[in-house]
Amino acid sequence: MTDLRSILVTGGAGFIGANFVRHVLDHTDASVVVLDKLTYAGDRRTLEGLSPTRCRLVVGDIADATTVDEQVSGCDAVVHFAAESHNDNSLADPSPFVQTNVIGTFQLLEAVRRHGVRFHHVSTDEVYGDLELDDPSRFTESTPYRPSSPYSATKAGSDHLVRAWTRSFGVQATISNCSNNYGPYQHVEKFIPRQITNVIDGVRPRLYGAGANVRDWIHVDDHNAAVLQILTRGRIGQTYLIGADGEKNNREVVEMILDVMGQPRDAYDLVTDRAGHDLRYAIDATTLRTELGWTPRYQDFRAGLAATIDWYRTNEAWWRPQKAATERKYAAAGERPLSGEGAR
Ligand code: NAD
Ligand code: TYD
Repeated sequence: MTDLRSILVTGGAGFIGANFVRHVLDHTDASVVVLDKLTYAGDRRTLEGLSPTRCRLVVGDIADATTVDEQVSGCDAVVHFAAESHNDNSLADPSPFVQTNVIGTFQLLEAVRRHGVRFHHVSTDEVYGDLELDDPSRFTESTPYRPSSPYSATKAGSDHLVRAWTRSFGVQATISNCSNNYGPYQHVEKFIPRQITNVIDGVRPRLYGAGANVRDWIHVDDHNAAVLQILTRGRIGQTYLIGADGEKNNREVVEMILDVMGQPRDAYDLVTDRAGHDLRYAIDATTLRTELGWTPRYQDFRAGLAATIDWYRTNEAWWRPQKAATERKYAAAGERPLSGEGAR
């Protein structure tokens, strides 16, 4: 990475962005500026211990044109993670999703266009909608967009802006659409950390609906290794799908968490389903694998999950301040047990 000396990482105090910052510091000589608004999902403690000469946090909003221009003008590349990222929140209040995911991405694109800065846009496979459980096909770079939720619709909108700015204005951009991530520093509102921390608290895990929905799990370090390869060696204008052949239904994941944590595999409750709940995501990452030679390092999901469980056990001080408020939010949204001990 000879010519990228300074990388602006938006959303670098969140789950995937903070792990990306660590990956860049470990694998390159570049320094990093994190631009993050520190919403409920961002935490400056996630960047603690990193070299202050190579990593600096700027607290600011990507939807603010002046802040964005100032930070973009001083860097060689932008890697754009900042987003409102949780589907359930987008059903309760879509407004910050439009503001951050659409307007924020627009402001970043205008700034990289003005300053001629390389741009990588981090997106999700959820822009493609969902697949049937028995459908043999998986998402590819040419699957039509069909987002279901306010979250995925705003991410789809941001992807379209990036493509338009690349084609119309010659912005030097790439896009990646990744499947569901797991690993350290993920907010306790998300599926895997919520269930791990529930079990630590002696509370039964909660599965939406019948727990049959399928997600294609990838370790966050494998996602970030792919993003760095795309940033340094990817083709401008190209979209890359990132996935590690990790399809599992939610019931299997909860049973594995319970088993690794020494609990009976059926000690979970079924609760109210999510409105519009996407059935299945599945990624075909052939382009990334063949063009850039990327392969996932975490091939054993149970081992990756066990390491993640250890991380949450060891780092309770990091997640504890968010836990009670997160559970109150789910209760206020009307989540109720349908079966299991909680329903009796
Ligand atoms: P996260 O919610 O953990 O972190 C988001 C970060 O963005 C937080 O630090 C937050 O403070 C910051 N942020 C929010 N609004 C901002 C604003 N207006 N200005 C500046 N900063 C702001 O999310 P995550 O799970 O780390 O996801 C990061 C990116 O990866 C998102 O773009 C998401 O769509 C994408 N993605 C996530 C997954 C996943 O499984 N989590 C999978 C594929 C793609
Ligand atoms: P989530 O982590 O919210 O990611 P996404 O909505 O982006 O896929 O949820 C992953 C899956 O787990 C999804 O099918 C919804 C389900 N889920 C539960 O069954 N229980 C829960 O408590 C949560 C938060 C999610």
